[in-house]
Amino acid sequence: MASFPDTGSPPTPLAKGLFRAQVAANEPLCTGHAELILRFDAFPPAWPGQFLQIQCTDPDGPVWRGGALIRRPFSIGGLRRGPRGVEIDILYRVMGVGTGWMSRLKPGEPVSVLGPLGRPFEPPPPGSLACLVGGGIGLPPLIWLAGELAEAGVQVLAFCGARTAELLPLRRDPAVPVRGAEPSAAWPALARWGVAAIVATDDGSLGARGRLPDVLADWLAARAADAPPVAIYTCGPEPMMQAVAGICRRRGLPCQVCLERMMACGMGTCQSCVVPVHDPAAEDGWRYRLCCTDGPVFPAEHVIWE
Ligand SMILES: Cc1cc2nc3c(=O)[nH]c(=O)nc-3n(C[C@H](O)[C@H](O)[C@H](O)COP(=O)(O)OP(=O)(O)OC[C@H]3O[C@@H](n4cnc5c(N)ncnc54)[C@H](O)[C@@H]3O)c2cc1C
Ligand code: FES
Repeated sequence: MASFPDTGSPPTPLAKGLFRAQVAANEPLCTGHAELILRFDAFPPAWPGQFLQIQCTDPDGPVWRGGALIRRPFSIGGLRRGPRGVEIDILYRVMGVGTGWMSRLKPGEPVSVLGPLGRPFEPPPPGSLACLVGGGIGLPPLIWLAGELAEAGVQVLAFCGARTAELLPLRRDPAVPVRGAEPSAAWPALARWGVAAIVATDDGSLGARGRLPDVLADWLAARAADAPPVAIYTCGPEPMMQAVAGICRRRGLPCQVCLERMMACGMGTCQSCVVPVHDPAAEDGWRYRLCCTDGPVFPAEHVIWE
C-alpha cells in the first residue's frame, strides 16, 4: 500500500501535543466561510483526515471572554513544512460562538491548538483512481488528501458540492471554464496538485445541477468497463455520505467516510462522540465506537447510518 509522502505511514499511537500557534492569515473564502492559516514553530507528523481541537478563546485571557468554553474540532485542510516552521490551513464555516470568535482573529494573534488527533484516511489500493467526494464544509480534509495523494503519484479526481455557488468553500480561477459535470481545473486549491474537480450545486448556479451523489453515480455509470478501479473518499453532510456509501456498496467500491460528531475532549475521555458500527462479534451485531479516536475516518461499510 502507498504511504503519504510528507510523513510516511502513520505509527501507532500517533504523536499529539498542545501547541501555541500564531495566526498567519484569516481571509474570507465565500459567504459565511473563511480560511485560517496557523503558523507553528514545530508540529508532529500528521495525516489527512486528522483534526485539531482549537481553543476558541484568547489563550492569555479568561476563557469566558468572547469565545467558547470547550475546544472545537476542525479538520486539517492543508499542512506545509518550511524553514519558518509549519503552516496549517483551517477552512471553517461560521456557525456559532467558537467559529464567530475565529472569524475575528487577526494576523499575529495567538491560538491554542491540541493535535493532531484522530485516525487518518488510508491510501487507496495501488493503481486506483481516488475519487474525493466533498460536500460544503466537508471539503477541507479532502483538499489536503488530494495534495498528498497526488504527490504520491496517485491519480485523483474531486467531486465538490454545495447548495449554491456562493457556499462552495473553494477559491475560483475565473479564467478557467466550468461546464456542467465536466472536470475543471478552475479551483487552485486542487489544480496546483494537478487535480481537476467536478462541481455540482443544488440550484445549478455552478457546475452540474443536482445532488453530488447523483452526479457521482452518473459519472461511475458512464465509465468504460476497463477503466482503472475507483476508491472513494467522502466528507460532508451525513445524508450525502450515506448516499455515497450506498452507491459504493452497490458497486463494490472501497469507500472511506470522514464523520463529524459533537466533540468535547477529542481524545476518547468524555464519550460524547459515539458512532454505531457493525460488529459481528458483538451480541447484537453492533457496538459504539468513538469518532474522535476510532475515527473520524471509518470504512463506510462499518457505519450504521442513523
Ligand atoms: C472531526 C471534525 C472535523 C471538523 N472539521 C471542520 C472543518 O474543517 N471546518 C468547519 O467549519 N467545521 C468543522 N467541523 C465542525 C465544527 O467543529 C463545528 O462547526 C464547530 O464546533 C462549531 O462551533 P461553534 O462554537 O461555532 O458553534 P456552536 O455555537 O457550538 O454551535 C452552533 C451550531 O452548530 C452545531 N454544531 C456544533 N458543533 C457541531 C459538530 N461537530 N457537528 C455538527 N454540528 C455542530 C450546533 O448544534 C449548533 O446548531 C468539524 C467537526 C468534527 C467533529
Ligand atoms: S470527543 Fe470526548 S470521547 Fe470523543
